[in-house]
Amino acid sequence: MKILVIGGAGYIGSHAVKRLVADGKEVVVLDALYTGHRKAVDPKAKFYQGDLRDTFLVGQILTEERIDAVMHFAAYSLVPESVKKPLKYYDNNVQGMISLLRAMHFAKVNYLIFSSSAATYGIPKTIPITENTPLDPINPYGETKMMMERIMHWTDKADGIKSIALRYFNVGGAAGKIGEDHAPESHLIPNILKSVNNTAKPLTIFGQDYNTKDGTNVRDYVQVEDLIDAHVLALQHLLKTKKSDVFNLGTAHGYSNLEIVEAAKKVTGTDIPYTIGPRRGGDPDSLVADSTKARTILGWKPQHESAEDVIATAWEWHKNHLKGYADK
Ligand SMILES: NC(=O)c1ccc[n+]([C@@H]2O[C@H](COP(=O)([O-])OP(=O)(O)OC[C@H]3O[C@@H](n4cnc5c(N)ncnc54)[C@H](O)[C@@H]3O)[C@@H](O)[C@H]2O)c1
Repeated sequence: MKILVIGGAGYIGSHAVKRLVADGKEVVVLDALYTGHRKAVDPKAKFYQGDLRDTFLVGQILTEERIDAVMHFAAYSLVPESVKKPLKYYDNNVQGMISLLRAMHFAKVNYLIFSSSAATYGIPKTIPITENTPLDPINPYGETKMMMERIMHWTDKADGIKSIALRYFNVGGAAGKIGEDHAPESHLIPNILKSVNNTAKPLTIFGQDYNTKDGTNVRDYVQVEDLIDAHVLALQHLLKTKKSDVFNLGTAHGYSNLEIVEAAKKVTGTDIPYTIGPRRGGDPDSLVADSTKARTILGWKPQHESAEDVIATAWEWHKNHLKGYADK
C-alpha cells in the first residue's frame, strides 16, 4: 500500500507520515512548506516540494509513484486570518481540493482521507455535536472545509472517488521528536507552553464573555497520535466498504480555556500568568464532539482522554524544542 500524504510536513500530517512509515507503508509526501517543516518529515518518506494547486504535478506524482490512496492535510487553518483574508482561504483550500480530485480522477486513484474540522458546525444548537448536526460555519475557514466536503460528495457521485472526511475538534500533543510549531501560533496549548518557556509573548486568553461555564471558550482536545489512529482505521474502513462517510474526532470532554491553563500548571509544575484580551472573532462558545460514530464504526479508542494527558505529550516536545524546529 503506497500512500500520498499532502501537507505531510505540517503538524498533523508529519505525525501521519511517522505512523504510516512505522506501520510499514510506503509513503510519499507533497508539501509546499508554507507552514510546515522539512525536518518534521520522516526520512523514510519520499518528499516532493510543491503546491497542491499544481494539478499536473499532483497527477504526475500519483501516476509515477503508483499511489493507492491519499491523505489530505494541506490547508490554511487560522480562523482569525480567514476572517481578514477570506480569498486566501478559498483559493488555497477549495482550489486545492478541486485540483486534487481532478488529478485523482485522471490518475484513477479512488481513495481519499480528508482533514475536515469542527469549524464546519459554526455555533451548534446542541452540545455534544453529532455528525448530523447541521453545518453552518461562522468563519471563512470553516466554510472552505464545508465546501471541500461538498465537492468530495459530488465527485464521489460523478467519478467514484470514495472519501472519508474526519472532522477534527482541537488537536494537541506531540510524538517524541515531532511536535507543533506554527508561526504565528493560534492554538492554546502550544501558546501556554511557549509562555512557560518564555519563548512567546505572555499568554492572552481571548474573551471571557462567552456563554460557557467560566466565560471562556470550551473546546474538546484530541491527542495527535490518537487522531492519526483514526486515520489508519478510516482508511482500512474505506478500502473495505468502498463507501464515503464522515466522522467526528474528539474525546467528548469539553475544557474551558481556563481549565486548560490549570491542567498545564499541573503538567509543567509552574504558575502560568495570563491576561484576558478581547474576542478574536470567529470563535463559537463551545465545540464538544459526540464521537460515538468513530468509536463504534471505526473501533476508534483514544488513549489520551484527559486534557492533562494531551498536554503532557506536548510539554515533552516543547521543553526540548524551545525554538521549535529551529532547534536541532
Ligand atoms: N490543528 C488543529 O487543531 C486542526 C483542527 C481541525 C482541522 N485541522 C486541519 O488539519 C489539517 C492539518 O492541520 P495542521 O495543524 O497540521 O496545519 P499545518 O499548517 O501545520 O500543516 C498544513 C501543511 O500543509 C501545507 N500546505 C498548505 N497549503 C498547501 C498547498 N497548497 N500545497 C502544498 N502544501 C500545502 C503546509 O505547508 C503545511 O505543511 C488542516 O487541513 C487543518 O485545517 C487542524
